[in-house]
Formats: sequence, structure tokens, C-alpha cells
Amino acid sequence: MVCGDLHDGGSEMEAMTVIETLGDLGPSILIVPGNMDPRGFAVRLWEKAGFSVLHKRSLEIMGTGFAGLGCVVASDPRRWRDEKRCYHSDDEVYRSIKEAFEKISAFGQRVIVTHQPPRGILDRAFDGEATGSLGLRKFIEEFQPDILFCAHIHEARGEARLGRTLAVNPGEMRKGLFALVDLNLMDKDAETTAPSRVVWFGPGSRGGWQKE
Ligand SMILES: [Fe+2]
Repeated sequence: MVCGDLHDGGSEMEAMTVIETLGDLGPSILIVPGNMDPRGFAVRLWEKAGFSVLHKRSLEIMGTGFAGLGCVVASDPRRWRDEKRCYHSDDEVYRSIKEAFEKISAFGQRVIVTHQPPRGILDRAFDGEATGSLGLRKFIEEFQPDILFCAHIHEARGEARLGRTLAVNPGEMRKGLFALVDLNLMDKDAETTAPSRVVWFGPGSRGGWQKE
């Protein structure tokens, strides 16, 4: 599961290096675009590489439903059309993720992947500003999926609960950071005091990765 910002603008050729490296890791990739992933070609190249793009889409894997939405909210409508980045309105966030979620709502476990966090959790930037999407928060509060994977704010790596939804920001992949969540171990009736099921990884001292 990759929560976006695989690229930083740039050319298709530059993007291919990253895409091939990610593809070589092995497991099948579920991905949504971040604001830094060019709308003009990111999704096209990812699909060509065999990644499952979950932007405004859903899919089922072994009885678990996955739905996603990439990009980041921008208030200036001119930015919504920027082909070198990926922005949209907060209204679109609520509408799109709700639509994608409806197709997986009946599954035993429902996993959401977004780039931007919801407003109020995992969304504090260095300067203390809450940068999350209000539309996404509304969706999470109303529909309470089991897990939300999100990213965008590097300094907000960690986990938090919004009602019964466990939200996880796995951290920057380029720094060797990621998180492991075993869906078989998830407590579906988890309360805010439930122990964490998330295992955190960082770069190992002798290469590779290690548990933190
Ligand atoms: Fe981002």
C-alpha cells in the first residue's frame, strides 16, 4: 500500500526509475497519487507497471474491501487543473471517497487509502497547522471504516483513532520507513484504548529494515 507522493513533479523518464524500483520490491502495489505526483502521467505509468491504482476506485482482495482517493485539497480552483500536481476540492473528497466506499461497505473489513489525512488527526505540520481534509474527516466519522492509511505530512508519522477507525501514517518510504498491519489481527470492535496492532519499521543498521 503506497499513499502517494512517489514522485516530485519531474519527467516521465525520472518517474520510471522510481516505478521500476517499487515494482521490483515484489508484492503487488496498491497506490493513490499524492499532490506531488503529476496528474498528466503518474496514474498511466503506474497502471502500465501493473500497480492497482485506487484513486476514486475500490477493489476486493480475499474478502477485504479497499477504497482510495489520492491528491490534496486546494482552495484555489486553478490548482485543480494543474497537470504537474494533483489537487482537488474538499467537496470532491467527501463525494468521491463515499462513492468508492459504497462498493466495499458490505465486506467484513474495509480499508481506506488516501494521501491527505483527515482534519484533526495525523495532520499537524511542523508549524502546528492542522492540514487535513474536512471532507475526509466527515466521511470517516460517518462511515467508520476499519483502517485508514494516509500520508502527506511527513512529520505526522504514527497512528491515531477517529472513533473506531484506526488511522496510520506509515512514514517516508525514501527514508526506509513503513508500517505493517496484519488485517487478520485487527480487532473489529476496537475502542480508543485498544492496544496497537501496527508494527513499525525503519532502516536497519546493516542495510535492509528492522522493527522499531
Ligand atoms: Fe503530499
